[in-house]
Amino acid sequence: MKFRNPPVLLFILSVLSLLIPWTTARTVSIDGFLQCLTKYPHPAHTIQESIYTPQNSSFQSVLVAHINNRRYSTAATPKPLAIIAAKNESHVQATVLCAKHHGLQIKIRSGGHDFEGLSYTSDVPFVILDVFNINSIDVNVADKSAWVHSGATLGEVYYAIGTKTNVYGFPAGICPTVGGGGHFSGGGYGFLMRKYGLSVDNIVDARLVTANGRILDRKSMGEDLFWAIRGGGGASFGVILSWKLKLVPVPPKWQTVAPQLPKEVFLRAQPQVQNIDTKGNKTVGVSFIGHFLGTSDKVVALLNESFPELGLQRKDCYEVSWVESTVIWAGIPIGTPIEILLNKSIDPGTFYKGKSDYVKEPIPKHVFDSIWKKMIEIEQIWLDWNPYGGRMSEISESATPYPQRAGKPIFCSILFVVV
Ligand SMILES: Cc1cc2nc3c(=O)[nH]c(=O)nc-3n(C[C@H](O)[C@H](O)[C@H](O)COP(=O)(O)OP(=O)(O)OC[C@H]3O[C@@H](n4cnc5c(N)ncnc54)[C@H](O)[C@@H]3O)c2cc1C
Ligand SMILES: *[C@@H]1O[C@H](CO)[C@@H](O)[C@H](O)[C@H]1NC(C)=O
Ligand SMILES: *[C@@H]1O[C@H](CO)[C@@H](O)[C@H](O)[C@H]1NC(C)=O
Ligand SMILES: *[C@@H]1O[C@H](CO)[C@@H](O)[C@H](O)[C@H]1NC(C)=O
Ligand SMILES: *[C@@H]1O[C@H](CO)[C@@H](O)[C@H](O)[C@H]1NC(C)=O
Ligand SMILES: *[C@@H]1O[C@H](CO)[C@@H](O)[C@H](O)[C@H]1NC(C)=O
Repeated sequence: MKFRNPPVLLFILSVLSLLIPWTTARTVSIDGFLQCLTKYPHPAHTIQESIYTPQNSSFQSVLVAHINNRRYSTAATPKPLAIIAAKNESHVQATVLCAKHHGLQIKIRSGGHDFEGLSYTSDVPFVILDVFNINSIDVNVADKSAWVHSGATLGEVYYAIGTKTNVYGFPAGICPTVGGGGHFSGGGYGFLMRKYGLSVDNIVDARLVTANGRILDRKSMGEDLFWAIRGGGGASFGVILSWKLKLVPVPPKWQTVAPQLPKEVFLRAQPQVQNIDTKGNKTVGVSFIGHFLGTSDKVVALLNESFPELGLQRKDCYEVSWVESTVIWAGIPIGTPIEILLNKSIDPGTFYKGKSDYVKEPIPKHVFDSIWKKMIEIEQIWLDWNPYGGRMSEISESATPYPQRAGKPIFCSILFVVV
């Protein structure tokens, strides 16, 4: 990152540090904050309809509607003083400016799938700036692109693309209720990663609100900030309003199930504890779910050669469109209409701890044995192993803030423990 004109920057900072304590009251004031919001009227959407405080009867339901991890929705979890469910970018600007003025921390929330609840909890007084209402998607097939607002879920993105075209898709994650705000600012990987890289490798523009309430796009924010928000975590830099996605070609028909050689193949392994009899004996079974950009015959022949132990047969394969494959990846029964992708309600879910790590050297057999043993001991645990390589290893580790690229991971391991 380049710092241009450091002397000027230092000068401005020192003037600011002199002025701030005297000119703006930094004492926390929720009443002041709420009054401040009304000073930014909007012709079409008054902000009043977007403000939820604990006095509003729907406060609790709006709060939990986007909490994916029950560990962070207990009585002991710190609650926001208010939720601003912005309906327009002007509401986002008002929230940022008023929170700054009244000393309140903002937690920005899109889909609420943060593993550690960072988008809706805090140790200091805070408000939630919820952007789930800012969720429209504009697909431009001729331009092979789509503008997607941050509050849109991956399911809505897949549905919007898949109902406009069957020859383009977009590489992103597997869970349809994950939000665009957190996902795209964190990297975003999924079953097209080996062919097309991460979501951020295919994002060409973005609009965000800065701490000063200004709206910037790629051109006005500059390349350094645009680099940072594509993997560096959006909330560190501003409120992302929308992203411009570059669509990627997909065959009009393709199939699910595959290995690791050509880029067209993505094969995920999922070790899970299973009962082997009624006497309580347990084992770890590993299931494989894969994805191939081509026909069943091709992938069966390919795997017969490169991974014969898997014993893949034609009857294990489903030839579906890209958008239908996103439904299968979500664990929804094959053949379910793709409208299911628009279901944004999140199950109250489990109390879980999720953790990702990168495996850089093959795991020796004896280590697997101890992993299986530990899993059987814990039982309420599962792993997702996602292969890297392919397109991922062709992109330099400094291209985005997501450095796990060439020569680094063999696969990404995600561990979930129910607590
Ligand atoms: C069940 C499940 C499945 C998942 N599957 C995948 C997967 O397949 N691939 C993958 O790559 N990841 C996956 N993830 C991880 C997921 O991508 C991240 O947790 C992501 O940050 C969630 O985004 P969100 O908008 O839903 O979350 P939020 O909790 O709303 O936000 C996450 C973080 O981003 C910030 N943020 C949110 N919106 C904005 C915004 N508009 N502007 C600035 N900052 C913002 C928040 O403040 C917070 O720090 C999964 C997570 C879960 C729980
Ligand atoms: C919450 O209550 C306040 C005060 O009654 C009201 O002005 C506001 O519109 C309510 N918010 C919503 C979302 O209904
Ligand atoms: C906000 O409102 C303005 C003016 O009505 C409109 O042009 C703009 O598209 C809206 N933005 C969002 C994100 O809703
Ligand atoms: C299953 O449990 C029974 C009874 O505890 C035991 O005798 C047997 O050896 C176990 N089998 C396996 C495969 O672990
Ligand atoms: C797999 O390969 C073996 C040996 O080359 C061959 O005999 C068999 O027919 C192949 N099976 C399939 C399904 O292609
Ligand atoms: C939508 O998702 C919720 C939560 O998983 C589920 O309870 C509900 O049945 C789903 N609705 C439909 C129509 O499938």
